[in-house]
Amino acid sequence: VTAPIPTFLDDLDETLAHVWRQFGRGVVDRRNSFHTPTLATLADDGTPVSRTLVLRGIDVTTRTLRLHTDVRSRKWAELAHAPRASLHVYDAGQKIQVRAAGQIARHTADAIAERAWANSRASSRACYAQDLAPGAVVPQPIAAPPVGTHDATAYRHFGVLLMAIDRIEWLYLAAAGHRRALFTWQGDAATAQWLAP
Ligand SMILES: Cc1cc2nc3c(=O)[nH]c(=O)nc-3n(C[C@H](O)[C@H](O)[C@H](O)COP(=O)(O)O)c2cc1C
Repeated sequence: VTAPIPTFLDDLDETLAHVWRQFGRGVVDRRNSFHTPTLATLADDGTPVSRTLVLRGIDVTTRTLRLHTDVRSRKWAELAHAPRASLHVYDAGQKIQVRAAGQIARHTADAIAERAWANSRASSRACYAQDLAPGAVVPQPIAAPPVGTHDATAYRHFGVLLMAIDRIEWLYLAAAGHRRALFTWQGDAATAQWLAP
């Protein structure tokens, strides 16, 4: 038995609204696939580099996603040279793939970083208290910094990535029928199109 195609999948506006709802759920629901998207950046030698990040916030009006990372990380440096990035989510339950692209602005030690830090849990903050830069070679596995220590040092390592989305590609693959849609924005001009799956 194949499930019928959800009705919003025959309407571009509804499809886009559904995408934003999923991102919104991803922020608040740790079990949602949209909670842990894959972010791809470009290394200096042209190699695409992807990794999982936690989706921390979303602003639908400005089409902005918020992610947190260590300013000593590889991605932080890569984004300085190549600020465009793409983001991928596959939700197996809904059979939906979302690919988004956009420009990333990096924020550290400013009002945006401060607000994000103030709203972070102690367990999240502790990740930034490590003396060694993420990715440093170590002779053996090292212990994670205990929660609640070195908050001031940790804050210096804390960075916010604001990704302004200008392209979303949506794919729904199911036995009942496939759907593929493309949404793009250029300034205030928005386009929405169906694509062959
Ligand atoms: C479930 C999960 C969630 C993660 N969340 C984050 C995150 O929010 N921020 C982050 O910088 N790294 C996060 N990581 C670690 C990254 O995937 C990556 O290993 C790390 O940021 C180093 O990436 P880079 O060397 O490409 O900069 C997460 C990893 C997993 C498996």
